[in-house]
Amino acid sequence: SSVSEDERRRIARELHDHVEQTFFAIGLTATSALQSTEDELEIAPRLAQALTQVTQLATAGAEQLRTAIFTLSHAEFAEAGLVAALRQLIMTFHTRTGIETDLVLTGHERPIPADVAEVLHAVSRESLANVERHAHAGAVVLGLHTGARFIKLTVQDDGTGGSRLMLEHIAHSSMRFGLRGMRDRVSRVRGTLVAGPGPDGGFQVRVRIPLHARAAA
Ligand SMILES: Nc1ncnc2c1ncn2[C@@H]1O[C@H](COP(=O)(O)OP(=O)(O)OP(=O)(O)O)[C@@H](O)[C@H]1O
Ligand SMILES: [Mg+2]
Repeated sequence: SSVSEDERRRIARELHDHVEQTFFAIGLTATSALQSTEDELEIAPRLAQALTQVTQLATAGAEQLRTAIFTLSHAEFAEAGLVAALRQLIMTFHTRTGIETDLVLTGHERPIPADVAEVLHAVSRESLANVERHAHAGAVVLGLHTGARFIKLTVQDDGTGGSRLMLEHIAHSSMRFGLRGMRDRVSRVRGTLVAGPGPDGGFQVRVRIPLHARAAA
């Protein structure tokens, strides 16, 4: 597409900050007009009917707008899919940091729900930011495994790793938001996240999200 991701985000933000507020204001104005004319309603039933309709239209408009904003901000995944978005992510990361990056895909090729894709993309981005800041790594591998019932993401680097003790402290720290934020997002799609020293060294973030029986959160 010719519209860049940045532009999409800007448009989505604009719609959210301004147009959504306008719909809200229209609904509010119509409701208050309806209330202030309550006494005269018997002589102006059609006006009352029109105002009720304006209120309903404003609600419907706001709803349609929210759908549009959602679609717009997920267009990245809808258009090219999660895999393409991850490729783009690691390419940009490699160019900026010089750290070797790779994406390893296993399992089946099947459509991934937009909300799951969004979470996996966010975890990948945040994990790479951590690799850049903390790991002193020379390489990082993103592994994406699509199973029949679960989708799994692993981010493994070959850096200094982090000690379990330190990570336990971090779990209670009010200063670190990265891992905690990731865990929250993952749990909203009924998934789990584990982070810590990798089995063969380095640092590893592991996410597992069920593909079926997800309740909307
Ligand atoms: N790839 C990694 N290699 C080594 N240590 C890591 C790695 N990723 C995370 N850590 C350790 O885990 C800690 C917690 O990470 P987290 O992302 O939650 O916080 P942060 O990066 O320090 O701060 P921020 O809130 O800005 O993300 C880090 O401070 C770091 O010590
Ligand atoms: Mg971080």
